[in-house]
Amino acid sequence: MFVVVGVTGGIAAYKTVHLVRALVTNGHEVHVVPTENALRFVGATTWEAVSRHPVTTSVHDDVSEVRHVALGTSADLVIIAPATANTLAKMAAGIADDLLGVTLLATAAPVVVAPAMHTAMWEHAATQANIAALRARGVHVVGPVDGPLTGGDAGPGRMTEPDEILSAALRISDVAVRGIVDATASGDLSGLTVAVSTGGTREPIDPVRYLGNRSSGRQGTALALAAADRGAEVTLVAAHVDDGVLDAALRHPRITVARVSTAAELQEGMTDAAARADVVVMVAAVADYRVSAVAPTKLRKEDGVPSLDLVPNPDILAGLVASRRPGQIVVGFAAETASTDAELVERGRRKAARKGADLLVVNRVDWDRGFEGVDNDILIMDADGEILAEASGSKRTVADAVWDAVIARRP
Ligand code: CTP
Repeated sequence: MFVVVGVTGGIAAYKTVHLVRALVTNGHEVHVVPTENALRFVGATTWEAVSRHPVTTSVHDDVSEVRHVALGTSADLVIIAPATANTLAKMAAGIADDLLGVTLLATAAPVVVAPAMHTAMWEHAATQANIAALRARGVHVVGPVDGPLTGGDAGPGRMTEPDEILSAALRISDVAVRGIVDATASGDLSGLTVAVSTGGTREPIDPVRYLGNRSSGRQGTALALAAADRGAEVTLVAAHVDDGVLDAALRHPRITVARVSTAAELQEGMTDAAARADVVVMVAAVADYRVSAVAPTKLRKEDGVPSLDLVPNPDILAGLVASRRPGQIVVGFAAETASTDAELVERGRRKAARKGADLLVVNRVDWDRGFEGVDNDILIMDADGEILAEASGSKRTVADAVWDAVIARRP
């Protein structure tokens, strides 16, 4: 989703950093629009770093791109956190004297506000009238909650905690997304069943150790969310995934999450899901080897330096390709280290030929590239190694490009 987070001038702005980070972690594209006063509490550098997009408060920047209108019209969801009494008043009156005000007037997306202010200001008749007017217009109000305030006293006025704002906002936007999909059938994956694997498998060595890899599970989860938002029914087979990454998938009404650990469990989960799926996407980083005999008790230093005897794991993707049903599309991923674009393409082509998947998504990885929250650069090739598409950007942008390629491939 394209989410605009408006931040206004209250001390709770620092908590919104966590909200933005959680949205990005969940695979959403987040644009932060602070007011001038908000920047007194948390600076633009922080917002740019956590959202990974430029931040401005002015309608006069990037005029040629009509940024002030573009943000509002592109948004799938707008969250204002914290929302001060002043901002609520401006919203109620439709005042648009900064980028946030203009964005709010230009958007048709659901708007969620999380007010934060002193109790006296919250209870003032003017604020309550503004809140009533905003609610009547369909704005969703989350909080404020009762508790200690910055001045040392207590009462209603504290901003709701970021996790709760996030889940309320995602629930509200889920309903909105489903409404649009159902009403207009605009979900171009409606009626399709898809199976996606994500995360990294772990192969036990002894009760406390394992062989694993750096996959965070973000790209596979973004693929599952994109498919479900576009109307598909999704089974997401998740090997180990970083904390918080699965949250939005677990809440999505069209995603069923199956948790697994080893390559053998992932194979079982994906083979089962693939039996019902129109599209199968193997994003998980599967350990190619496992320890031939797992030690039943902890390996101890006093027993000397252990040597690990490894045996190959099955190639799950190759198995899914071999048992592909007519019309079923199988997509593989190839994370490759390469020093040039040409080497990346060449490695991709070799893997495409070896795996035989209908589509292979090739991305470059390195110590600082391709993992965790960073953006991805991909190219999508067919089994013959012909490049069909390229995409770069957030993991959600990449996910949507993959689904576009799948749709183009379907009969
Ligand atoms: N894959 C799989 N089973 C394995 C290994 C990989 O299904 N045992 C899948 C991955 O999910 C991915 C694709 O195969 O979709 C490519 O994975 P990758 O690790 O890049 O390739 P490998 O086959 O492991 O080859 P290599 O390690 O030599 O690059």
